[in-house]
Amino acid sequence: VATRREDYRPPDWLVPEISLDFDLDPQRTRVRASLEIVRNGDHDRPLRLDGDELTLISARVDGREVEPGLDGKQLVLDLPGSRAMVETEVEIAPAANTKLMGLYASGGILCTQCEAEGFRRITFFPDRPDVLSRYRVRMEADKDRFPILLSNGNNIAAGEEGDGRHWAQWEDPFPKPSYLFALVAGDLKANSDSFTTMSGRKVALNIWVREADLPKTAHAMESLKLAMAWDEKVYGREYDLDLFNIVAVADFNMGAMENKGLNIFNSAYVLADQETATDADFDNISRVVAHEYFHNWSGDRITCRDWFQLSLKEGFTVFRDQSFSADIGSAPVKRIDDVRVLRAAQFPEDAGPLAHAVRPDSYIEISNFYTATVYNKGAELIRMMATVLGAEKFRAGTDLYFDRHDGEAATCDDFVKALEDGSGVDLSAFKIWYSQAGTPKVSARLQHDPQTRAATLHLEQRVDPTPGQPDKAPMPIPLRTALIGEDSCAEIAAEQLVLLEKAQATIEFANVAEPPLLSINRGFSAPIVLTVDRRPGELERLAQCDTDPFSRYEALQELMMCALVASATGAAADLEPVTRAVGATLRSDALDAAFKAEAILLPSEPLIADRLDVVDPDAVHESREALRRAIGNELRDDLASAYGTSGAPGHDLSPAAKGVRRLRNVALALIAAGDERVGATLAHRQFMAADNMTDRQAALGTLVSLDAPERDQALAAFYDRFHDDPLVLDKWFALQAAAQRRETVDEVQRLAHHPDFRIGNPNRLRALAGTFGYNHWAFHSPDGRGYRFLTDMILDADKLNPQVAARLIPPFGRWRRFEPKRGELMRESLERIVGARGLSKDVYEQASKSLA
Ligand code: ARG
Ligand code: ZN
Repeated sequence: VATRREDYRPPDWLVPEISLDFDLDPQRTRVRASLEIVRNGDHDRPLRLDGDELTLISARVDGREVEPGLDGKQLVLDLPGSRAMVETEVEIAPAANTKLMGLYASGGILCTQCEAEGFRRITFFPDRPDVLSRYRVRMEADKDRFPILLSNGNNIAAGEEGDGRHWAQWEDPFPKPSYLFALVAGDLKANSDSFTTMSGRKVALNIWVREADLPKTAHAMESLKLAMAWDEKVYGREYDLDLFNIVAVADFNMGAMENKGLNIFNSAYVLADQETATDADFDNISRVVAHEYFHNWSGDRITCRDWFQLSLKEGFTVFRDQSFSADIGSAPVKRIDDVRVLRAAQFPEDAGPLAHAVRPDSYIEISNFYTATVYNKGAELIRMMATVLGAEKFRAGTDLYFDRHDGEAATCDDFVKALEDGSGVDLSAFKIWYSQAGTPKVSARLQHDPQTRAATLHLEQRVDPTPGQPDKAPMPIPLRTALIGEDSCAEIAAEQLVLLEKAQATIEFANVAEPPLLSINRGFSAPIVLTVDRRPGELERLAQCDTDPFSRYEALQELMMCALVASATGAAADLEPVTRAVGATLRSDALDAAFKAEAILLPSEPLIADRLDVVDPDAVHESREALRRAIGNELRDDLASAYGTSGAPGHDLSPAAKGVRRLRNVALALIAAGDERVGATLAHRQFMAADNMTDRQAALGTLVSLDAPERDQALAAFYDRFHDDPLVLDKWFALQAAAQRRETVDEVQRLAHHPDFRIGNPNRLRALAGTFGYNHWAFHSPDGRGYRFLTDMILDADKLNPQVAARLIPPFGRWRRFEPKRGELMRESLERIVGARGLSKDVYEQASKSLA
């Protein structure tokens, strides 16, 4: 039963006002709802209210008890007039809610997750994003166990009942869809602060956590205040309530949720201190805190008309959080990071059986469409339009968008229209990026005539078929392009924006006096796969000379990739140009440590596999290990001096200090690749001496892949010290699941029986099973044991939490591209999943589409 975009119809009934009354208890919670219902348009259809796992106690229409009909899970009521007051009373069981959608319990805290369709698990309601209501909430609970009672908006009253229970009343003045409703009750303490907005409104800020975690909330609070100031400065967007609450919970399906005035977070994206969180964790906290905050405008004030428009809020908000992170840190490194995520997570979607458009056409379960395509490719699509418009016109466009659609449920087309009207620029050609799936493949060739000093750039694009879209049209592809002089090592043709609109194009350059090197798709201006026809030596030269940091990074990566692909396919690979270029990068005075670390990091095994027609994971692994060994051996001295770089005290979180730590740790891993003994000694020494989690985790990360005695000592020491901290224990599981050794497939099976493994906790499940699925070499163990392990995990997890189980399926998706033996084993795993009894529709959709 698929839902289709073309079937959209405005809601038959609106609900301008809703009052909710919660009698909270983990075992059985009573929910009374009063809905003010208004007929929308001229029709005689009944009112249909969505419900899921609700026990109906009673229903009333205008005060009179009624017997509502049931159609599937929907409650059906015939209403004679154009308005009615509909009241329902239901019972739910938060403690038994293992799906973590709706109202559930996490470590003694009662909390909600309603996006996308969780509100129907709390009360009967037209649970769709284009029904906007004003919410009044009353909640009552045991005062000892639940001293803090929170919901959206403002706290307007509170009191005691005398029987040990107390209550609070909340009112949210902003109409919102049901997916933005939130409620929290628990024994929480706040890190409280305030922010004064640009118009002088003083906003109280609270980050609510368990008391013991209070010292770990400082970074999230700093990030929140930076994000609030940034949105004012860059988008002119100001916060609109007097109160902004964040709550951290340990059990959460995704990263966090932008509920109006009451953001609820996976604790992994709130809690951090030097001892327990890495630099990457700190950056992720800034990113997610900002992301959820930015949703207040791009999501809450303007929401989505239907779930096919999800990228309207997610693509735009990811673009906004990426720009924020670039501004508060290193912009080039942030761009490298974003592209790495896109290539690792989104390109495989576009190239596999789960390919879908940024604005999909149909779904079975909407939770399966919270994807890298909707989020990250959606962000790239907005970045392309922003590149074409330039900063000023883009801002004029977003100003108009926020102004025109404030308080509405809008579409992706509305967004593009507002950008066009605000900027005066026709962007209609870009709309195909919303509807056409697949990553465009662009090939480029530069011809140079030394006599006439003319250079000609030939460009060609094509998009391969994806499920349901056999024929593809050309897409508009903005390519920031410059020419670099091979001799002068300088820009000889200034950067210009080339827009490839048709299948082919040629671009002329005049006055090209020396052999030119093509620097194209600078800053990764378009999310494409690019193949450039190059002479030997070009990439090595570009890795030294390109004036765009991203393209310079890309040149070295491509140089490595060519060697890796050659050796993975049994061709003779010349590693010398690679080690020479890596050495030059390490020794460069012009580059900072963070950039060097990113640039010399080898492409991952899945990325290498993406370049092969038939994937043999052993050959891919061998090829990558051989290059790591070569770099470790040839560049022993350069790596040792990079490792010796000082200037990164553990408490220093500046971009410079983080960069030094990153470079030291990338160097450490390569040193160990060259000489296991030296590497083990260094890593163990670092592990023992570390005063911060970045260095500790990196040292352990190097050790886990070695067969040294220090490995097990360090793992045991790490466990002893941190086993009471769930987020650090997740790292312990994940590090072992990521280990590059033959034994990993046995290890993960042992860890699945470890007393600290909790299949019902999404973070722990992802740490073990999720991480293992992306450990290319171990997962693709030739005997199929890796596949069996993940299949068992998926089926077990599905019984508790279908949404999280479904997210473990993608590693199986590319079975057609593997050598026949593995391909067959992978396909059998998918068939075992599809054939399992009592399968959720979440897992069914992902597994059956992967087989098709
Ligand atoms: N809107 C949230 C975010 O991007 C994600 C929530 C998705 N939840 C879900 N159950 N699919 O920040
Ligand atoms: Zn989001």
